[in-house]
Amino acid sequence: MENVVRNAKEHFEKLVTEQLARIERMKKAEDWVDYSTLKPLIIGVAPGDGIGPEITKHADTILKFLLEDEVQKGKIEFRDIEGLTIENRAKLMKAIPDESLEQLKKCHVILKGPTHTPSSADLASGKWPNLESANVSMRRELDLFANVRPVKVPEQGIDWIFFRENTEGAYVLGSRGIRVTDDLAFDFCVHTKQGTDRILRLAFDYAKKTGLNRVSLVTKANVVKTTDGMYLNMAKEIAKNEYPEIKFDDWYIDIMAAKLIDPARQSEFKVFVAPNLYGDIITDEAAQIQGSVGTAGSANIGKRYAMFEAIHGTAPRMVETGRIQYADPTSIIKASAMLLNHIGFVDKAKKLEMALDVCAIYEKKLVITGRDTGVTGEEYAKYIMETIKDPNLEAKWKSYQ
Ligand code: IPM
Ligand code: MG
Repeated sequence: MENVVRNAKEHFEKLVTEQLARIERMKKAEDWVDYSTLKPLIIGVAPGDGIGPEITKHADTILKFLLEDEVQKGKIEFRDIEGLTIENRAKLMKAIPDESLEQLKKCHVILKGPTHTPSSADLASGKWPNLESANVSMRRELDLFANVRPVKVPEQGIDWIFFRENTEGAYVLGSRGIRVTDDLAFDFCVHTKQGTDRILRLAFDYAKKTGLNRVSLVTKANVVKTTDGMYLNMAKEIAKNEYPEIKFDDWYIDIMAAKLIDPARQSEFKVFVAPNLYGDIITDEAAQIQGSVGTAGSANIGKRYAMFEAIHGTAPRMVETGRIQYADPTSIIKASAMLLNHIGFVDKAKKLEMALDVCAIYEKKLVITGRDTGVTGEEYAKYIMETIKDPNLEAKWKSYQ
């Protein structure tokens, strides 16, 4: 018994020491990179697993088309990131193999297809070993602290943007809980003042910069009092002292999950900010409201690096039933538009966003359903590409507004 308690204490002590050291690193963190000064600005492309390589290929083609001139002038360079596959990760027993991480760190921004995280069924059947999610690991290794996910349904007045904290909360020690005894299991949720401050500020700054003027915080601070309570208190302080012009409100995750589908409320919400796990849950819900998780893009932003990805997973069921070619590339193409915006190509991003709107919301000449009742991802990507090339794109898009 004494041993059991001592082991748990030692484990906890180690975690506390590591987190205190992480705080010191955060305090020293450098300022935001200025992409306009880089020559070349390097875009890494990591295809991932399952449907990943297929959908990433389409996004990659569209990005290279939009950035053709910049590539030719040597302003932008594309690089393929190798080894970030479940086969290689399992072989090396690494969430991200060292060589892949080294390649990633030489890039400035990354476009990433979904990567497989071994499930409990994979572990039970021995198909894959226990590996941490490559996503979670990359967000931590590259300190991509903000997960930014926009969701739009114009006909319902929905124009939302989520700022999900990406490096803390229930995730930061996700693989390092303690199974104290057969009967007793602990996991940890960690929030730091520095980590909370930087995500809150990013959300408030965005609301201010864009004139959206409303920020809604999502926690469960009535129950999870210490960590979520810190979020709530800090958000209230920042809102009151630094952004008095912005309307701030706070919600608990359960009622927010309900209000997101309340037609009377939907159009009121603008900017959301949430700790990691709640942000994970409500962004899937929001993406479903928009159509499906296949339709939302996701940006993972840090001060030094940024990674753009599809919000969904590798779709193993599509792979098993031979439907890879029908996978919807919209999510990763939206992520590519976010990438363009982030590195300063706002006009090109706008063009791509307009083309996506025209194809998916307004014109719908081709429809993708994930099966042979619709077109293939390749046909759909071609449709998007032709729409981008259409000289009347802007006029067409405006006519639908
Ligand atoms: C996401 C995904 C990931 C997460 C998984 C794959 C670990 O659901 O990006 O939202 O929970 O963050
Ligand atoms: Mg998720």
